[in-house]
Amino acid sequence: MSRLLEGKSALVTGGGSGIGRATCLAMAREGARVTVADLPGPGAQETVDLILAAGGTAHAVAADVTDPAQVEAMVASAVAAYGRLDCAHNNAGIAAMHVGAGGQRMCDITQAAWDRMMAVNLTGVWLCMKHEIAAMERTGGGSIVNTSSIAGLIGLPGSNAYVAAKHGVIGLTKAAAIDYAPARIRINAVCPGYVETSMIREAMTRRGDSILSTVPMHRLGVPEEIAEAVVWMSSDRSGFMTGAAMPVDGGYTAT
Ligand SMILES: NC(=O)c1ccc[n+]([C@@H]2O[C@H](COP(=O)([O-])OP(=O)(O)OC[C@H]3O[C@@H](n4cnc5c(N)ncnc54)[C@H](O)[C@@H]3O)[C@@H](O)[C@H]2O)c1
Repeated sequence: MSRLLEGKSALVTGGGSGIGRATCLAMAREGARVTVADLPGPGAQETVDLILAAGGTAHAVAADVTDPAQVEAMVASAVAAYGRLDCAHNNAGIAAMHVGAGGQRMCDITQAAWDRMMAVNLTGVWLCMKHEIAAMERTGGGSIVNTSSIAGLIGLPGSNAYVAAKHGVIGLTKAAAIDYAPARIRINAVCPGYVETSMIREAMTRRGDSILSTVPMHRLGVPEEIAEAVVWMSSDRSGFMTGAAMPVDGGYTAT
């Protein structure tokens, strides 16, 4: 059977752990040559090593999605390595706890926490898309998948800045999908529910049972289950899909 992303050049931010790593591995398995981007540290290279060990093609790039020059260099690195950019998964993100705002209501969070959340989870996606789209336009099209969340579709308690940023990602996805449909660039969002990664560990320790009781499937997702959706949304098999926000959430938003 032919592979879904045979020969494509794919870029994944936050590729050094969790959902991003699983997507890098799944994309490589499906034949993509993968640029694995993440903050400086061992994560991205570890993902690359896993891909190379499985016979795939990948290289690592250190890039902070809040830094315009680093984002530009990240996209340039993908194009330099593989000649073009066909697929991008804008997935890097942080949780409320990372900005010291875990469980806080709107009036209790600091402006610094709000600004940091927006910088990484919303402006970071915009910045990546800005450079990715420019690269894709040069070669006649492509497919972008942004990681939103169930928090992009509904409100969640004690996560207001995260919820606002993830709703923003969906708005950005829809508006960009319309703007760039004529350029043959499809842009969609994946909306994971609760997934077993480092991001969710603290919340599970604090209120694991109450979280699971709200999920119809009564379990966490695993990163590979999000990755499979991203691979399909990145591939030509989803050719008529653009501007969509697809939940992969064990039924959470169906209730
Ligand atoms: N785990 C969940 O339950 C869940 C649910 C819905 C959405 N998400 C979203 O999925 C995405 C991936 O999260 P995850 O669960 O795999 O968590 P994770 O913490 O394992 O991965 C996040 C990755 O983003 C990277 N990152 C953070 N800030 C960055 C920056 N400024 N520049 C570049 N990279 C940066 C981190 O280094 C890390 O590798 C995030 O956007 C998150 O909001 C996660």
